[in-house]
Amino acid sequence: MKRVDDFRLRFGKNEYVPIMVGGMGVDISTSELALEAARLGGIGHISDAMVEDVSDRKFDTSFVKDKTKLYKFNINNSDKSVVQFDLERLADAQRRHIGATMAAKKGDGLIFVNCMEKLTMNGPRETLRTRLNAALDAGIDGITLSAGLHFGSFALMADHPRFREAKLGIIVSSVRALQIFLRKNAKLDRLPDFIIVEGPLAGGHLGFGMDWAEYDLMTITLELLAYLKAENLDIPLIAAGGIFTGSDAVRFLEAGAAGVQVATRFTITNECGLPAKVKQEYVKATEDDIIVNGISPTGYPMRMLKSTPAIGAGIRPGCESYGYLLDATGNCAYINSYNREVAAHPNEKNIVVMDKTCLCTHMRNFNCWTCGHYTYRLKDTTHKKPDGEYQLLSAEHVFKDYQFSIDNQIALPEKEF
Ligand SMILES: Cc1cc2nc3c(=O)[nH]c(=O)nc-3n(C[C@H](O)[C@H](O)[C@H](O)COP(=O)(O)O)c2cc1C
Repeated sequence: MKRVDDFRLRFGKNEYVPIMVGGMGVDISTSELALEAARLGGIGHISDAMVEDVSDRKFDTSFVKDKTKLYKFNINNSDKSVVQFDLERLADAQRRHIGATMAAKKGDGLIFVNCMEKLTMNGPRETLRTRLNAALDAGIDGITLSAGLHFGSFALMADHPRFREAKLGIIVSSVRALQIFLRKNAKLDRLPDFIIVEGPLAGGHLGFGMDWAEYDLMTITLELLAYLKAENLDIPLIAAGGIFTGSDAVRFLEAGAAGVQVATRFTITNECGLPAKVKQEYVKATEDDIIVNGISPTGYPMRMLKSTPAIGAGIRPGCESYGYLLDATGNCAYINSYNREVAAHPNEKNIVVMDKTCLCTHMRNFNCWTCGHYTYRLKDTTHKKPDGEYQLLSAEHVFKDYQFSIDNQIALPEKEF
C-alpha cells in the first residue's frame, strides 16, 4: 500500500511533499505552524484575515487602536460608509506579517498566504489590490485566493514584478467556478499555478449552499481532473476537506490529485493559534456538537461547534475597529440584524442576535469556533490525560503522520504524562 511520501507535488522543476496546511484565519494558522510545514518540505499557509490586528499582537503596532480613535465618533451610527482602511497602513501591516514569516523560513518547502476575498473592507478592489501587492513585496512564495473569488483578482497584481514568479492559486468547489475564473483571466495570459478543490467537509466558510451534504469531494475532484484534461491544462489540483488520514490522502493522490490541503488535524497542535482552552473544546467535540449554519455575514454557510460563543451574542458591531466585512457601500448583514433586535427590544440590555454574528470581533477573540466536519475524530489522534484534558500534538507529528502512515492508521504521540 502506498503512502503520501511516495508522491511529490511539482511546481516547475521543484518538488515538495504533497501536503499543504490550509490557511485558517484569524491567525489560527500561525506563522509557526506554516513554518513547520515548510521546514518539513511541504507548504504552509498563513492568513491575512484581519492583518492589522495580527500585526498589533505580533509587532506591538497600534493599527486597531488608531483606527478606533479616528472613527470613534461613528460608533453609534449604523451607516459605516465613512469607516475606511488607510491603504498605506494596511500594506504596512501586511508587509510586517508576511515579511517576518518569510525571514524565519527554513527548509525546502513554501509559505503561501490565504487571502479571503470576502473581506471586502469597505473598498473591495483597492483593499484587495493593496493586500495582494504588499504580500508580493514582502516576498511571499505564493498566494491562495479564497472565499468569494473575485474573478478579476489576478489583474489587480498584474503589474507587480513578481506576478509571474510567485505561485498564484485559487480555491474552487466546482468546475463551473473554475471555468468562470479562467474565462475572466484569459487576457492576462497567466494561468493559476495550482487549484485547490475544497469539498463540503472543510472548516471555515463553505463554497456550497445549505445543501452541502449532497456533494462529495472525490466526485468534484474527478470532475475537475476530467475538465483540466479535456482542456489540456496541466495545473496541479489539490484536494481539501475531510482528508483525515494519510490513507485518505493517498486515495486522492492515486486518483490524480497533485496534493492535499489539510487543516482540522492541526487545530490541536502547539503551533496552532487557538487558545489552549479552545483546543480542548475541539478535541472533546462529538459529531452532534458540530453544525453548519448561516450566521456568517458573508452569506456563506460556515461549520462550527454548537457551543461557540459567537452564536446569539448580540454585541455592538465592531466596524470602527475592524470593519473587514463591510461591503462596498459600508454595510454588513450583522449590522442590520443587530439594529433589528435593538429596535424590537428597546429596554433590553443583553441583546440576542441569532441569525447573524459579528464575525470580525468574534474571530479576533477566538470566539467563533469554526472547524472541519471530522473535528469529532480528533480525540482518536491523541491521548486523554488523567485530568480529562487531551495532550496537544506537535505540528511535526501530525505532518509526518500524514506523510508516512498506511492502512488508515493514525500514529499516536509519545505520552507526555
Ligand atoms: C479552524 C479553521 C479555520 C479556517 N479558516 C479558513 C480561512 O480563513 N480561509 C480559508 O480559505 N479556509 C479556511 N479553512 C479551511 C482550510 O484551509 C482547509 O481548506 C480545510 O479545512 C481542509 O479540510 P480539513 O479541515 O478537513 O482538513 C479553515 C479551516 C479550519 C479548520
